[in-house]
Amino acid sequence: MKKVLVTGGAGFIGSNFICYMLNKYSDYRIINLDKLTYAGNLKNLQSVENNPRYTFVRGDIADRILVDNLVGQGINYIVNFAAESHVDRSIQDPSLFLCTNVLGTQVLLEAARKHKVEKYLQISTDEVYGSLDENDFFTEDTPLAPNSPYSASKAGADLLVRAYHKTYGLPVNITRCSNNYGPYQFPEKLIPLFITNALQDRELPLYGDGLNVRDWIHVYDHCRAVDLVLHRGKNGEIYNIGGNCQKTNLEITLTILSILKKPRSLIKYVPDRPGHDRRYAIDTRKIERELGWQPRYSFERGIRETVKWYLEYRDWWVRAKHRTAGGDESD
Ligand SMILES: NC(=O)c1ccc[n+]([C@@H]2O[C@H](COP(=O)([O-])OP(=O)(O)OC[C@H]3O[C@@H](n4cnc5c(N)ncnc54)[C@H](O)[C@@H]3O)[C@@H](O)[C@H]2O)c1
Repeated sequence: MKKVLVTGGAGFIGSNFICYMLNKYSDYRIINLDKLTYAGNLKNLQSVENNPRYTFVRGDIADRILVDNLVGQGINYIVNFAAESHVDRSIQDPSLFLCTNVLGTQVLLEAARKHKVEKYLQISTDEVYGSLDENDFFTEDTPLAPNSPYSASKAGADLLVRAYHKTYGLPVNITRCSNNYGPYQFPEKLIPLFITNALQDRELPLYGDGLNVRDWIHVYDHCRAVDLVLHRGKNGEIYNIGGNCQKTNLEITLTILSILKKPRSLIKYVPDRPGHDRRYAIDTRKIERELGWQPRYSFERGIRETVKWYLEYRDWWVRAKHRTAGGDESD
């Protein structure tokens, strides 16, 4: 029985990943360490909460004693999703982002080194590369040039992961994925915020001219890629993950309005975010070539299923929105 420590498993991608892994591997035990910040929600894991191979531990990845105790219980793999993940919040208060995203990562790396885990996998983001001009793509060799406190904290964590590999020989991988969407995404990020606002006939606050470009990937395709890298990634390597689906925020907004048959007058242009990256686009040839991964979801299918999910799970997002005021997009 392999033991996997998943951190941040009560968040959007982490909870999808836990369900994916428990479903796929009948001989894996998953320990979910999550602090349950505003973004963590155990309701995301209701379908597995009684699974005897699943355990939840509430705690902070920056808590050295707790992490050391957990990893010391024979953990084979660590997959670190835990992070403060919203760019706008990082602009308001960067310090929390450093505590969790940088120091928390170092605590996990130290425990991984001490207890000789077989693989430490850092879930990073394409935002560490900064912003692109038209026609360019991020490869794994693109220099790091983060522009927000969030992306700077993720880049700092990536450099620590690299250093633990180079200095101590820790078996690591880093994945850098583009913008995810899908079920259980907290309604402060662009797609769920706009779906839920439109359902409530509220304004959709679109930054700047709405022409910032992001590469969109369904969370299920991201989970498949993380699984592959965890098991077959070459130690020390970075893998970009993307949906080969570049769209402006305005295109996304119009698609959502059209699926929901809501008027364009709901769009409200708001002043741009400071340091707002103009364009992201991912070159995924390395993971395709080395691990045989490709996204399976078309955006057309993924966005329709996602809108349907938010229609069906109204209670989930109404409660989530209640807990916090709205924002706009992040990764
Ligand atoms: N959402 C995206 O589009 C995207 C894209 C690329 C990479 N990523 C990365 O994927 C990871 C997960 O993103 P997400 O969108 O699921 O985030 P999320 O905000 O939905 O979830 C983050 C989870 O981490 C937990 N957490 C926060 N601080 C913690 C701490 N100190 N200790 C333990 N748990 C803590 C929260 O409670 C929450 O459950 C992040 O590392 C993010 O940088 C996200």
